[in-house]
Amino acid sequence: MFRDSRGSIAVVEDRCCHRGLPLSLGRIVADTIVCGYHGISYNTAGRCVAIPGQRHVPPAMRVRSYPVVERDELIWVWMGASEEADTALVPSYPYHDDRARWPHRTHWQVLRCAHTLVIDNLLDLTHLAFVHKRTIGGDPDAHTNAEFSVEATPRGVRLMRWLLDSVPPPTYVNAVGFKGRVDRWMEFEFIAPGAVLQFTGALDVGQGAYEQGNREGGFALRIFHGITPETADTCHYFWSGCNGYRQSEAAVTDQLYTVLAATFAEDAAILEAQHVSVRSRPAPLFSTTHDRARVIAERKLQELLAAEAGTAHTVGG
Ligand code: FES
Ligand SMILES: [Fe+2]
Repeated sequence: MFRDSRGSIAVVEDRCCHRGLPLSLGRIVADTIVCGYHGISYNTAGRCVAIPGQRHVPPAMRVRSYPVVERDELIWVWMGASEEADTALVPSYPYHDDRARWPHRTHWQVLRCAHTLVIDNLLDLTHLAFVHKRTIGGDPDAHTNAEFSVEATPRGVRLMRWLLDSVPPPTYVNAVGFKGRVDRWMEFEFIAPGAVLQFTGALDVGQGAYEQGNREGGFALRIFHGITPETADTCHYFWSGCNGYRQSEAAVTDQLYTVLAATFAEDAAILEAQHVSVRSRPAPLFSTTHDRARVIAERKLQELLAAEAGTAHTVGG
């Protein structure tokens, strides 16, 4: 990935078409990427534009370039056949553009697990009571007894959970100083193939969070989860923690980031262990009531994979 002088992003194959060196080892010079081996340069469309010591540039010398859009602080690359790229399918995340209302910090890491396990994890929130006891977990009974609804969407699934009249978790209390019990909401939307949009928060009981849909005056946070498969055994996990309370205090956004990083480290340990176990013995597993959203997401992904496999000119992926 590289930017031209106007700041537009370009994504090209990471392999020089001369002797195959990864172009990511090169450098960017005046809107081109110059290979780090013999100095051949390519423009943002992947066309070779200069060969040191040779005047003629054969038009066939090029590397593949990929359709890309940059939106809401996210870069979306289409790895399939170029003519099938459809920017309308890019999930929108306007909160990233509203730094006054949603100041945020971002994170990226590689996880040693299949990307689907990360999606699964985000769609069965009963794990909070067990995996996140010390961070965002809170009342274990409230999690298992939570009221929840699941709704299939054209590109995935939406999951809504309410922990009514529950004890707030330590992180919520530290953030906004809850004195008593709260109504806590968790809203998750999976958008295939790899985005999960999260909106969670809590208000004091009686503030109308549940009854009137009030979301102001308590704790609130939004998280964008982007999960990109790398191999069958690894994936890239991108997330942003958008702070919806005490927005003018930069230290609060940093604190939120620290708590989320600790929370997702708890998930990472589980997911990597689960991956090893599932890979070593891929026997059937059982689903429970709380798997409903996960099952819909899995079906949606399988549907899309089947559709892609049926497309004659699908390239790579
Ligand atoms: S390998 Fe890139 S210029 Fe030779
Ligand atoms: Fe988790």
